[in-house]
Amino acid sequence: MASPLAPSLQHLMYFSSARPGLGSLDIRAILGGAQVRNRRLDVTGLLLFTGRHFVQVLEGRAADLDGLVKAIQLDTRHDGLQVLVRQSIRQRLYGQWAMAFVESLDDADALDRLFINTNPDPTPLAGILERAARRV
Ligand SMILES: Cc1cc2nc3c(=O)[nH]c(=O)nc-3n(C[C@H](O)[C@H](O)[C@H](O)COP(=O)(O)O)c2cc1C
Repeated sequence: MASPLAPSLQHLMYFSSARPGLGSLDIRAILGGAQVRNRRLDVTGLLLFTGRHFVQVLEGRAADLDGLVKAIQLDTRHDGLQVLVRQSIRQRLYGQWAMAFVESLDDADALDRLFINTNPDPTPLAGILERAARRV
């Protein structure tokens, strides 16, 4: 029987440490590939780069996020990837971008403090991401 429900959408947020020396060409390469693949998968989101860390939001179907996060985790351009939030959503919060990008050096210190913690509280990150989304 066909399900009347749309496939469930999820919101996922992770952070990671950028490989030292990662430059703007690397970032451009990451975004170019990400936007093509995300569009194909109907995944949307935002990538925040502080110069030292990444915080990324990915929104899409659960199965697609599984595959994508596995691929992203293996990427040697960053490490220490830690998923902080993964939850079902009815509507996308970051639906207008295949992958928006914001470089936010101002938030680097605040994020460094969070990342020292082995079990960081994602609440301040949500605020940082909301501010970043207004700057896209
Ligand atoms: C910080 C960061 C964020 C990334 N975000 C995405 C993304 O949103 N979508 C995507 O397809 N690839 C993203 N990538 C690239 C993937 O890690 C990977 O290179 C790409 O999906 C190709 O994977 P494959 O070699 O398994 O096909 C990201 C990489 C990094 C380092």
